[in-house]
Amino acid sequence: MDLDRIIEARLAERQRANQLRCRPIIRRIDCTHIELNGRRLLQFASNDYLGLSFDQEIQQAANEAMQIHGLGSGAAGLLGGYTAAHARAEEALARWKGTGNAVLLPSGYQANLAAVQAFAAVGGMAGGSGVRFLVDKLAHASLIDAVRATGMTVRFFPHNHLDKLNRLLADAPVDQMQVVVTESIFSMDGDAADLRGLAELKKIHPFFLLLDEAHAGGVYGPGGSGYAAELGLQGLADVTVVTFSKAMGCIGGAVCGSDAFCQGVVNWGRAYIYSTSILPAIAAAIAKSIEVIGRQPKWQEQLRQRSRQLRTELAHRRQVVGLADCPIVPLILKEEQQAMKLARQLQDKGFWVSAVRPPAVPRGTSRLRMTVCARHTETQIQELARNLDEAMNARA
Ligand SMILES: Cc1ncc(COP(=O)(O)O)c(C=O)c1O
Repeated sequence: MDLDRIIEARLAERQRANQLRCRPIIRRIDCTHIELNGRRLLQFASNDYLGLSFDQEIQQAANEAMQIHGLGSGAAGLLGGYTAAHARAEEALARWKGTGNAVLLPSGYQANLAAVQAFAAVGGMAGGSGVRFLVDKLAHASLIDAVRATGMTVRFFPHNHLDKLNRLLADAPVDQMQVVVTESIFSMDGDAADLRGLAELKKIHPFFLLLDEAHAGGVYGPGGSGYAAELGLQGLADVTVVTFSKAMGCIGGAVCGSDAFCQGVVNWGRAYIYSTSILPAIAAAIAKSIEVIGRQPKWQEQLRQRSRQLRTELAHRRQVVGLADCPIVPLILKEEQQAMKLARQLQDKGFWVSAVRPPAVPRGTSRLRMTVCARHTETQIQELARNLDEAMNARA
């Protein structure tokens, strides 16, 4: 069997269907511009919502930690890869999220795996029928991969459909741990979980809530501490996952929860145990990033104001979905080719936006996913909206 031949045939099929995935080489000029094939484009496709990836104070914190600790951490956390920089960042995170503790991992994807693995292990040990994961259908792939890999029971409920979730919880065997898994701000729709509704459900049924705040950190809540905190529901989630690859401008993820749960992650979260720990320099950058966000709320305010502006400019386009001030601004276009074509047209006009297609989003909901950065000017937002309108009218 010729492995490469098989792959090449499948890739050719994708190419013919205009579905081949590839990675253009870009150069980041600053947080709102990139260079692609020698052309300068306005960036509207990055999750660096606050523009902190170019923040000098954060970069300096990383540089200093690198001088002290070296670049690679050299080992998994349990085998000598855990430094004072990691410990300090975890303390800062727990304070920020108001949790007993936090565990840092090299990515948000891994943090979700580790959190789910800890739930599965602990639920398995508790006796009874183990764990059943109840997952919002639009939850991120990392959560879906994680729950499926546990081998425990998994049920999906339609996006934000709490009546269905209520029925599932009402039917739960008494000896089975129920873990509801959702995102606070959904990465592809820019809408929010019904956290108030989940709080009501918690009064009726026993379940644990695992909340992925990847896209809410830095954007919502006091000091950017998340959407649950924004609603005054900081204690609602039993376990929260945060990522630092988005508004924090770095890389990495963390599981935040009680001290006992975090010890559970360190003891049973295979994604933590069997992976070299995150770079100490990045741990230091994460701690600094939290500090900078807390000290400079103007960026959070400006981000939400600019996000509101883009949505207002596009208010006549009913395909734009999501929360009024969310920096993820999706325009739903149904067909993949429509989304691809529009992204290309915008690129020709000097704008870099993402076309998102299945399987990243459900079939028939391909979209243009525009993301706002706090450092965009009002004029840049107007220009994007105007050019998008022009391109769409030309298509009509
Ligand atoms: C909701 C959500 N959770 C988790 C992740 C994974 O985070 P990371 O990119 O840090 O691995 C992402 C990233 O795209 C995400 O959107």
